[in-house]
Parts: sequence; C-alpha cells; structure tokens
Amino acid sequence: MTNTILDVKDLCKTYIINKRQNNVLRNVSFQVSEGEMVAVMGPSGSGKSTLLYTVSGMDRMTAGKVRFCGRDISEQSDNSLAKMRLDDMGFIFQQMYMMKNLSVLDNIILPAVKSDKIKESRKETVSRARELMKKLGISDTADNDINEVSGGQLQRACICRSMINRPQMIFADEPTGALNRSASDEVMAELEKLNSEGTTLMLVTHDAKVAARCTRVLFIVDGNIKGEYNISRAQSLRDRERALNNWLLEMGW
Ligand SMILES: Nc1ncnc2c1ncn2[C@@H]1O[C@H](COP(=O)(O)OP(=O)(O)OP(=O)(O)O)[C@@H](O)[C@H]1O
Ligand SMILES: [Mg+2]
Repeated sequence: MTNTILDVKDLCKTYIINKRQNNVLRNVSFQVSEGEMVAVMGPSGSGKSTLLYTVSGMDRMTAGKVRFCGRDISEQSDNSLAKMRLDDMGFIFQQMYMMKNLSVLDNIILPAVKSDKIKESRKETVSRARELMKKLGISDTADNDINEVSGGQLQRACICRSMINRPQMIFADEPTGALNRSASDEVMAELEKLNSEGTTLMLVTHDAKVAARCTRVLFIVDGNIKGEYNISRAQSLRDRERALNNWLLEMGW
C-alpha cells in the first residue's frame, strides 16, 4: 500500500494587486504518494511556482486544504511551518540561494546545523555531507567558495543541501533552468536516482526531457490541472520522452 505524503484539496490562491483580484490557483486537487516524482508543467504564468510554494508552506493559501505527512499546513503557525520546511522538506531553486561567505561544504551542512531534528555531532554531519557530495560527484568542490564552481556543480550542491536533513519530500522550482543540456541531464540523472532510492519529489519544469524522468506529469493551465500523465520507467528514456512529447502536444503545449 502506498502512503499519501501530500494531499491537496480545492486549493485556491488569489493575489490582490491595486484592488484587482488575480485568481492564480482555482480549486486545485491532487495527491502525491510516497516515492513518486511529480513534474508540474504548463505555460508561463499558469501558476506552477505558486502551486509549489503554497503546497510547501512557503506561501499562504487563500482557501482549500493541504495536508503534508498528515498535518494540515493551514493550521500551522509561521514558526511551526518554518520548522516543518527545515526538518521535513528539501528545496532546490533555479536561483540557487547559497551563502556567499561559506564554502560549498558549509552551505550543504547549514540546514543540519540549524535544525534540532538532526541529533549528531558536526563531524557526523560533515561526513554525511561528504558522502552525499561523493554520490553527486562534487567531492572536489567541498572547500571551494560557491563562486568557484560551475552552475552544474552548484546545482548538485543544492541537491546535497536539500537532502541533508533527510526530508520526507523535496520541492524544486526549475532545478535545471539555469543549466546547459549536459549539466541538466547530469542533475536529472541524480534526481531520478534519488527518487528510485525512495525520495519523493515534486518539481516544476518547462523541459520535457526533465519531466520524462519523473513518474507523473501534472499539466497546469490558468491555475487548473488540465491533464495528468503517468510515466513508466520500464521504458527507455528516449521512448518516455517521445510519448510525453506526444501527450504534451495534445495538451496544447
Ligand atoms: N507574489 C506575487 N504577487 C502577486 N502576483 C503574483 C505573485 N507571484 C505570482 N503572481 C502572479 O501569479 C500568476 C502565476 O505566477 P507563477 O509564478 O506561479 O507562474 P509560473 O507558472 O510559475 O510561470 P513561469 O513559467 O513563468 O515561472 C502570474 O500572473 C503572476 O503574475
Ligand atoms: Mg515559475
């Protein structure tokens, strides 16, 4: 039996600017089960980032219900939401929010230093961070400043950082958006591997090659889920891409 990790029901998000309402998310409902890797696609401005931010508690919803690991997000105080994000969620962004005055390694361990969930010595955290870095192929960059590594290496460091507190789920907004094709492929191969080892992911992307590595695609238009597409890893990546592209054409992509 699969466990639901994220349960979203009738989620609405409205922004009000100059007294004008912008209903960005309109009654969005979906679930993510443990072990899934869900891509969110759709035209620019359709509400993809807003969806990711509201379901992960980075932004407040206007109406609806979001349960993360059984806990109702709208009922949490700002403090407990922040704790939940630090302890149980990992985040990867296109603009990589790394601390400029810290080394790559120190950036990766920072969430663990800030969390009281991880009960281990700094030495143990560092050794876990080094293992993650090894897995992602960036061991050599540990002592570098973050401006002394390539975009692809930095993005892989972000993945290490998102994993360090052993999150229940990772949220990523265009994790490969700033990368060239080969760096994007490398990063996605790592994310697919993490997912096949059990980590649940939800990521926003414009790139069908990126989405083809996921297990399901949600297609958003005007703040609604217009369609859903399941992908089987039994097929080769090329076949997955081809089939997904056909479906995206049907969706009006
Ligand atoms: N903080 C905000 N305040 C007001 N309006 C916002 C805010 N964030 C987003 N919006 C509006 O919400 C709508 C959806 O934006 P969102 O960033 O979610 O789109 P997106 O699908 O991620 O687009 P893109 O593919 O370009 O990143 C847009 O009309 C945008 O102007
Ligand atoms: Mg966006």
